[in-house]
Amino acid sequence: MKFDLDFYKNKKVFITGHTGFKGSWLCKILTMAGADVTGYALAPAEPSLFELADIGRGIKSVIGDIRNYDKLKAAFDAERPEIVLHLAAQPIVLESYKNPRYTYETNVMGTVNILECVRNSDSVKSFLNVTTDKVYKNNERQRGYREDEPLDGFDPYSNSKSCSELVTHSYKRSFFKSGAAISTARAGNVIGGGDFAENRIIPDCVRAAEKGEDIIVRNPASTRPYQHVLEPLFAYLMIAEKQYESRGYSGYYNVGPDESGCVDTKTIVSMFCDKWGGISWVNAAPKDAPHEANYLKLDCSKLKSTFGWSPRWHISEAVEKTVEWTRVYLGGGSADDIDKIMRKQIIEYMRG
Ligand SMILES: NC(=O)c1ccc[n+]([C@@H]2O[C@H](COP(=O)([O-])OP(=O)(O)OC[C@H]3O[C@@H](n4cnc5c(N)ncnc54)[C@H](O)[C@@H]3O)[C@@H](O)[C@H]2O)c1
Repeated sequence: MKFDLDFYKNKKVFITGHTGFKGSWLCKILTMAGADVTGYALAPAEPSLFELADIGRGIKSVIGDIRNYDKLKAAFDAERPEIVLHLAAQPIVLESYKNPRYTYETNVMGTVNILECVRNSDSVKSFLNVTTDKVYKNNERQRGYREDEPLDGFDPYSNSKSCSELVTHSYKRSFFKSGAAISTARAGNVIGGGDFAENRIIPDCVRAAEKGEDIIVRNPASTRPYQHVLEPLFAYLMIAEKQYESRGYSGYYNVGPDESGCVDTKTIVSMFCDKWGGISWVNAAPKDAPHEANYLKLDCSKLKSTFGWSPRWHISEAVEKTVEWTRVYLGGGSADDIDKIMRKQIIEYMRG
């Protein structure tokens, strides 16, 4: 299918989590489209794509906690958005084992708070909650999960996102029989330039490349649906647009790669090493590591059959684009250089 961002020109879009990895790329796409973007999130971490690419330049950025309903509502009401994309979350599994209460507060009550803003507004036509492939009850099977299967993530992060789904389902049934169209999107693991999160494999590769050290791999055999960050972002924008135009499209959608993108950690790390050159990886699985699923796959036939969507960049290209971005960053690229490489990759992605 053809991606065309004309729809977003001058649209008022409210993004939670805009200072994060996905949020920064999303702001870049939307500013390129000429949208009127307001973001609400915590201050960016250090380093961050948000700062490196000077994302704040093209948008209204409000720094605040999603748990603070009054502050969130004030920012929301000041903008009267038409489209709301909810990304703010504590998104790291290992962190959720260390801080489950904060994870649930942010991921569950954060969802309640943004949905309350939408419920009490008459401007919103389209709301999308970004959850994850980890929302499903994982029974380690080889076949991909479908949207109608049980939601019951194992660890506090995954489970808080299952709860975020359930909160959204209840609000949709209870309060949005008319008015805003409400959807959730359950995406697989993303890779791409500008992710600096702890305990994610590509950021670990970049940090090792920066120091010229071996990459420490915790779970070489665990399989995940990997995709470039632009894949789910364009899918989110497509769902938000389609349901804005016709409420009938609102629903729950998996967003993942084709079969070739479901690879184990050692495969994706080896691809990074090959494309970067001169580094290697070591297996260092800690003995007492908390539980993480070994096998996770999504069935994305609903997104494909509903919208004619299909993934564009396969795993090798996704790693290549990540390496390309990282070379600019580690080469000391300025904000303009980072902006340029992001724009280039967005245009390439749109061309297909
Ligand atoms: N990166 C992935 O592989 C992946 C995969 C599936 C789903 N997701 C989901 O996508 C979304 C974005 O993930 P990301 O990778 O960009 O993560 P990230 O950590 O880079 O960004 C998280 C964003 O949420 C904000 N945030 C966190 N706690 C907050 C709070 N209490 N109040 C306000 N803002 C808060 C942060 O400030 C940041 O802007 C999350 O909902 C995540 O669960 C990510």
